[in-house]
Amino acid sequence: MSIPFSIAIDGPAGAGKGTLARRLADHYRLNLLDTGLTYRAVAHALLRLGLPLDNVSAAETAARQVDPAKLDRAVLSAHAVGEAASKVAVIPSVRRILVEKQRDFARTPPGAVLDGRDIGTVVCPDADVKLYVTASAEVRAKRRLDEIESIGGTANFDEILADIVRRDERDMGRVDSPLKPAVDAHLLDTSEMAIEAAFLAARAIIDDVLAKRNKA
Ligand code: DC
Repeated sequence: MSIPFSIAIDGPAGAGKGTLARRLADHYRLNLLDTGLTYRAVAHALLRLGLPLDNVSAAETAARQVDPAKLDRAVLSAHAVGEAASKVAVIPSVRRILVEKQRDFARTPPGAVLDGRDIGTVVCPDADVKLYVTASAEVRAKRRLDEIESIGGTANFDEILADIVRRDERDMGRVDSPLKPAVDAHLLDTSEMAIEAAFLAARAIIDDVLAKRNKA
């Protein structure tokens, strides 16, 4: 793989795209960027400073300081940070700053798997492979509930579902770079599909592209 190879994975929260992205990056030995963490890093910086999430100039400053290679998932994975991230993600100037960093990451050899909401449509419109991973809101809420309970926590299914629906509306309804499948994306609905099956389906698509590329 001499020219950087890029795989774009988009979809709503909880559809399984993060797990799929990690497995594909391991399998094809590519770099991995969960672009949601870059928006979370901006939100986290504002929350830490006690600043409102619509403070555009503070959000821009925080965005400029984001280093995609140094994102602390443990700190940024908190639910409140995700909610806040979906609010700073509506600020166009913040998106422009972060998208530039994400593109640089994708261009770095040997290439990368990027997952997010606008990778196939905006960040890497020329990605070698585009996947759109989705699942029903109910299935995603149930997975989130199981995840919380598996680490000894408690949560309410209806509240999680309401949160997911609200987040989908914000991510799909924003004016700048809304969540939607790229026209040339392959759809993977994981509602009834285990992650292993999604991984195998994605590999078949990617192997096909690689075979054509190696022949060219
Ligand atoms: O995938 P996540 O839950 O970590 O994302 C957090 C928020 O960041 C999500 O609600 C929308 C935003 N986001 C975005 O707007 N564009 C991306 N490429 C990735 C995430």
